[in-house]
Amino acid sequence: MARHLITSAIPYINGIKHLGNLVGSQLPADLFARYCRARGDEVLFLCATDEHGTPAELAAAKAGQPVADYCAEMWQVQKRLSDGFRLSFDHFGRSSSPQNHRLTQHFAKRLYEQGLIREVSETQMYSPTDGRYLPDRYIEGTCPNCGFDSARGDQCDNCTKQLDPVDLIEPRSVISGATDLEMRETKHLYLCQSQMKDELEAWIDSKTDWPILTTSIAKKWLNDGDGLRDRGITRDLDWGIPVKRGDEDWPGMEGKVFYVWFDAPIEYIACAKEWVDAGKGSDWQRWWRTDKGASDVTYTQFMGKDNVPFHALSFPATILGSREPWKLVDYMKSFNYLNYDGGQFSTSRGRGVFMDQALEILPADYWRWWLLSHAPESSDAEFTWDNFQASVNKDLADVLGNFVSRVTKFCRSKFGEEVPTGGTYGAQEEALLERLTTRIREYEHHMQAMEVRKSAAALRAIWVDGNEYLQEAAPWSTFKEDPERAAMQIRLALNLIRLYAVLSSPFIPDAAAAMLAAMRTDDTSWPDDVPGGLDALAPGHAFDVPEVLFSKITDDQREDWQARFSGARD
Ligand code: MF3
Ligand code: ZN
Repeated sequence: MARHLITSAIPYINGIKHLGNLVGSQLPADLFARYCRARGDEVLFLCATDEHGTPAELAAAKAGQPVADYCAEMWQVQKRLSDGFRLSFDHFGRSSSPQNHRLTQHFAKRLYEQGLIREVSETQMYSPTDGRYLPDRYIEGTCPNCGFDSARGDQCDNCTKQLDPVDLIEPRSVISGATDLEMRETKHLYLCQSQMKDELEAWIDSKTDWPILTTSIAKKWLNDGDGLRDRGITRDLDWGIPVKRGDEDWPGMEGKVFYVWFDAPIEYIACAKEWVDAGKGSDWQRWWRTDKGASDVTYTQFMGKDNVPFHALSFPATILGSREPWKLVDYMKSFNYLNYDGGQFSTSRGRGVFMDQALEILPADYWRWWLLSHAPESSDAEFTWDNFQASVNKDLADVLGNFVSRVTKFCRSKFGEEVPTGGTYGAQEEALLERLTTRIREYEHHMQAMEVRKSAAALRAIWVDGNEYLQEAAPWSTFKEDPERAAMQIRLALNLIRLYAVLSSPFIPDAAAAMLAAMRTDDTSWPDDVPGGLDALAPGHAFDVPEVLFSKITDDQREDWQARFSGARD
């Protein structure tokens, strides 16, 4: 039995994610995890919230809450929404967990012992009023370039010029408004990634099967970017993981925390420990340590393209640099961006459809289907309401939903609510079985390769085959001359419903469950043998006519939603 460790990039804690975030990592990761489980593989699928850093502190301040309380609440919100979208994480952890504190401090110690961490002196703005150093984003002032009076320490939002806090005219603290800021000398820790360039390069070069999007970004950063410059891994913030070497204090680092991008990927590992500590598993090292059973694990990461440098370079530098036998990623699947109706999704501007809003208007499967079948793989993709309406109505309602409804209703009216007896396959049926076998092998091939759009297209083609068969076989007319033959046709079609449920469950888990329930079966065995898989429901097996699986999106609804989501959210 193959073993798959699967992680999705962990979403920032500040705020509810939009559909572009969802399709960029969590949703395709879920598709793959569900597929591997359906094939009988052993899966550990992990995700968490990314809770540290200035954005979390600022969002908490804006909400008027202590940052720990804010994060605890937002974790609940994100957890509820990921359940709503049926994201089947084995554990949804938190980067602020005690497990991650310990492990992050452990890695820092190991890297220090390997000579991969050095101390660097820097001058930085200190605010006596606030009693703390101010990170760049905590300082505002007048832009020296355009005169805008609320330019941030790192960038002017008006003219987009990159700034240094010292460039600002009349700088002030965002926290208190204090202007008595002074430059002080302070020490920070740097991770010597540059020392590991050759090792990282050789490792990336060995990944000849990675998607081009991933390797091209990784190589660009390795070679002409400054991606492998030594990086500061500490910050002057209150909220974060205190800088320590294991459980020893780090002289000179009092009051400092690790940089969020240092501790966040370590949460992938800590999350497995959280999973065990929560009583859901028994051995996390079996997934993460090659000396403790993880050498036969296949590890796949999912992420948006902006995350690639951290996953392909910084995180591997951390775990390789520890010189401990941690499991490295085997396959890195990255995504382009999803745009929204002629522009970008934007969290800060509230533009687009957010996860909570999406579930208020339609069940998860509608969104899952559209998002996955339009995943931004080879290029950026765009959500439009027209396209959404067309796909849902055609693929889900007309093709799949209609098939299930016609077959079950026809059977009920002519044979009653059980699988009919009699008749044997003819040429049409043999041809269908052959076609389905080819298509199912193709579907498996694309799923295995994590080609999300191609997988959706293959699945849709499998649904279409069933409809075409039904159209040609026309049991409603066969029934008049040859009821036995009609019984055989309907028996096959009812079995196709079960088969569709099994094949479709990674994409549309709720509809798949409803189909299985209607067929009164919990036989979810994968059709390794297609003819056999179409014999699962035997003559005489009782079933129910299900409620409408997918209702169509009306033009009125489409227009309403388009208008409702055209501006910024409150
Ligand atoms: N929070 C980051 C984002 O949403 C992703 C962090 S992934 C991890 O872009 F590797 F750091 F965990
Ligand atoms: Zn400016």
